[in-house]
Amino acid sequence: MTKLIIDTDPGIDDAMAIFYAAAAPEIELLGLTTIFGNVTTPMATRNALRLLEAVGVDAPVAEGAHQPLNLPPFPPSANVHGAEGFGDIPASTPKGRALDEDAADFLIRMARTHKGELVVCPIGPLTNIAIAMQRDPEFVSNVKAIVIMGGSLEEGGNITPHAEANIYHDPHAADVVCTAGNKVVLVGLDVTHRILCTPDDFSQIAAKAPNLGGMLQDMSHFYLKFYLEVAGLNGCSLHDPTAVIACTHPELFEMRSVAMSVSCEGDTSGATLSSPDSGRVPVRVCVGVEADTVKALFLERLSTLS
Ligand code: RIB
Ligand code: CA
Repeated sequence: MTKLIIDTDPGIDDAMAIFYAAAAPEIELLGLTTIFGNVTTPMATRNALRLLEAVGVDAPVAEGAHQPLNLPPFPPSANVHGAEGFGDIPASTPKGRALDEDAADFLIRMARTHKGELVVCPIGPLTNIAIAMQRDPEFVSNVKAIVIMGGSLEEGGNITPHAEANIYHDPHAADVVCTAGNKVVLVGLDVTHRILCTPDDFSQIAAKAPNLGGMLQDMSHFYLKFYLEVAGLNGCSLHDPTAVIACTHPELFEMRSVAMSVSCEGDTSGATLSSPDSGRVPVRVCVGVEADTVKALFLERLSTLS
């Protein structure tokens, strides 16, 4: 079993990733930590609690940072994920509440408790992970891996020509995390742009899992409309679910070791850069993927939900 914590800004593809993790028999979901990005951090916490309650997973949620390490706060990506984070689905209040402990302290404590076993999967900006590394020098050695949805090597950006959104929203934090060496796996646009989920795929999920699959299909309309209008694509990239799948199925990915830094200024802010002269220990960057297998796994697992 993979002991997993997802650090998330839910977010439509975040919801897909969390439902996937709940459905995957090889994943033990130890909790969610929340971050701004697609929504504000308080909305991310509310949405994380809503998702866990919907899918029936009794796991804690710890709220994270409310703004980037150095930059001023960004407005949420409401044009991509809707005003409340789930497309046209309206806000609703969860029954539960977040822990009193913040995200970084929760991550540090869980990494100590499950030393060498915990996989952290950030699928939003990397602020909480950078704070955990700064608060606890043992954090990186205590985790098994940090598998990140973010960045790109060859593919360019999706929020600017150079930057992927999660890295762009806190480049200083991403640069800190890139010092963590080969514990870090970047699952970026080089692979997530190869995996497209179409309206027919969501119909298939909803037919097999009317309750939770139907909820994802309802959310997907807004996200698919964005992809059609902005990219001319009849489908959306499976960004965040692909990172969760990489946590348990690394054999489906081709990885390259790259010493990495992150541009924090100017037009290229948020670009992930190969920096062979930086003296940094290389991180692992996904540059190839068995796209059909990843997508089939996603569809198959979500179809087992209610
Ligand atoms: O670039 C894709 C990432 O940005 C995903 O994590 C998506 O949810 C948004 O946060
Ligand atoms: Ca996300």
